[in-house]
Amino acid sequence: MTNGFLISFEGPDGAGKTTVLEQVIPRLQELFHQDIIATREPGGVDIAEKIRDIILDVNHTAMDAKTELLLYIAARRQHLVEKILPNLENEAIVLVDRFIDSSVAYQGYGRGLEVDDITWLNAYATDHRQPDLTVYLDVTSELGLERISKSVNREVNRLDLEKLEMHQKVRQGYLTLLEENAERIALIDASQPVNMVVDDVLAAIIKKYKELKHV
Ligand code: TMP
Repeated sequence: MTNGFLISFEGPDGAGKTTVLEQVIPRLQELFHQDIIATREPGGVDIAEKIRDIILDVNHTAMDAKTELLLYIAARRQHLVEKILPNLENEAIVLVDRFIDSSVAYQGYGRGLEVDDITWLNAYATDHRQPDLTVYLDVTSELGLERISKSVNREVNRLDLEKLEMHQKVRQGYLTLLEENAERIALIDASQPVNMVVDDVLAAIIKKYKELKHV
């Protein structure tokens, strides 16, 4: 058992995770006297960043859905053992931009792979370690895609080339996960102005922290 606090950030593409995370980190640093470590999936460590490049390469249109899933899972395993767990053991608050739920939402609901298989693979790769809290930033697929099309700094990846229908299935997947894991996943309305989203995220983190650490 580790002593830190693991928070995953999830949401459809265009939910604004990156912007929200950038603003949440300094606020958490003011509030908590622990290290705040921000990392991302796929990636976060050298081996997993290399796997990310393979998965998201826009030229890799021949990639099979199961190959894609297994690469995400492999990247997750390496990231967990090399970065997430050691930091949790040092009592850090670890913020991870995407984690287990992304595989269920994208490869399961989005690509149509068996959700039970993905749940098992996630458990295998993480030794059953679930986030203490998952912050789910919810936007409609239309708004998410509109934001992506307007964002000039964002890398365009292979997943961005998918059609509206795929993005809608992903969002539906997240909403199903939310229903099934209401204790773990906090729903945040990410269509609000960013300062309001950040406030809601901080409130959800503080609430869960108090609940779990009895402070
Ligand atoms: P990002 O744009 O949030 O960095 O994520 C990269 C893409 O990878 C995004 O479109 C979601 C996708 N993804 C999956 O399909 N499955 C996964 O398990 C993860 C972690 C990400």
